[in-house]
Amino acid sequence: MRHCLLGAFWPGLGNASGARPLYLLICYRCGVYGLINVAVRDLVKTNFGDEAWESICRESGVTESAFIRMDQHDDAITFALVDAASVVLGISTSEVLQAFGEYWTKFTAEEGYGPLLDAAGDSLPELLQNLDEMHARIGTAFPNFNPPSFECLNVTEDSMDLHYRSVRDGLDDLVIGLIRGLGTRFSVEVTVEQTASKGDGEDHSVFHVQWH
Ligand code: HEM
Repeated sequence: MRHCLLGAFWPGLGNASGARPLYLLICYRCGVYGLINVAVRDLVKTNFGDEAWESICRESGVTESAFIRMDQHDDAITFALVDAASVVLGISTSEVLQAFGEYWTKFTAEEGYGPLLDAAGDSLPELLQNLDEMHARIGTAFPNFNPPSFECLNVTEDSMDLHYRSVRDGLDDLVIGLIRGLGTRFSVEVTVEQTASKGDGEDHSVFHVQWH
């Protein structure tokens, strides 16, 4: 089992905050890669054990052999896992996505993408400003890659507005978790306030990010 510090990454877990039905809209044309599903599995197993993971597989109808690292899969598998994790763990899908986002940076760093993250920036704002370039580099190893796009506007010494564009819907909470995970990576306190949401009919989502 991969070592990790997840206790601190799962605030509120264990509170039966009420599982909500999956609100995500799934784009069946763009795949999320198996690497992401492996990360979901590791996150659950590390925090809740093998039994919880088996329950999630049963609930989602996804078999372990249905995904492997570096293969491209339907986003539907990932979304089914998120939905099932919400039901089995008794937390909302928002909380699942945020926790997963927080875990992702640590997971990818341990899976061999550390140098790529290092090269993308020495600070939170630097890395956020280089996300598109970083995903473009990753894209050279992943065929049919369809990454999101991030634009940093109104950048000051300790804040920015992060504009997030994606072909997918329903992943705003993932972005919130990702930013928090990057805060942990750079040992800074981060606050993230969503100021526009694609889910509310806006063209794309915007987050006001502050750090100190
Ligand atoms: C080295 C670390 C990283 C790797 C290896 C990686 C890789 C990937 C991969 C494989 C996908 C799926 C894309 C597709 O199926 O077409 C993805 C999606 C995504 N990535 Fe990254 N990523 C990394 C870091 C980050 C960071 C630090 C952020 C911070 C905001 C981020 C934000 C996202 C988001 C929000 C998505 C969801 C897809 C969407 O919104 O359409 N990634 N990434």
